[in-house]
Amino acid sequence: MERTLVLLKPGIIQRNLMGEIITRFERRGLRIVGMKMMQLTDEILNEHYSHLVEKPFFQSLKDSMTATPVVALCLEGVDAIRVVRMMAGTTNGRNAAPGTIRGDYCVSNQQNVVHASDGPHTAFDEIRRFFKSDEVFDFGMTNLDRLYAPDEYNRDE
Ligand code: TYD
Repeated sequence: MERTLVLLKPGIIQRNLMGEIITRFERRGLRIVGMKMMQLTDEILNEHYSHLVEKPFFQSLKDSMTATPVVALCLEGVDAIRVVRMMAGTTNGRNAAPGTIRGDYCVSNQQNVVHASDGPHTAFDEIRRFFKSDEVFDFGMTNLDRLYAPDEYNRDE
């Protein structure tokens, strides 16, 4: 099993679309193991977007991310990082395929409605950045045999 970090950005909160987006992840078969609303700070955004600090849009990006609280989700599933990243779609919503979240809910590069971790190392760091250890839960999932074949997941996890 893998875990990944998703942020529902201010566009989703402003447009009352939180439930719709969360429903997509639930319907797909991903398990929500952490979820909270939080107001992001300059400090956490400087860390989260440190790879973009030199970009001309950096301040505008931070302003857009602090316009309202965001909802942070920790999602779990087999290959969850790749599955969720594909569900999010390409960064620029105008290029994102219909059927993806960005392709269905936005027409912007910056106002692209969700963040999703892009690899195992970033997922690990990002979950720790947005959740305290006791805010992410380990609980038994009873429907694993209906979501995956036995050889697709480790039964001990
Ligand atoms: P990035 O990490 O490149 O993409 P992703 O979110 O798909 O992992 O960029 C982070 C965010 O920065 C992106 O979601 C929206 C914003 N952004 C812009 O505002 N303008 C841009 O030209 C790019 C590339 C990103």
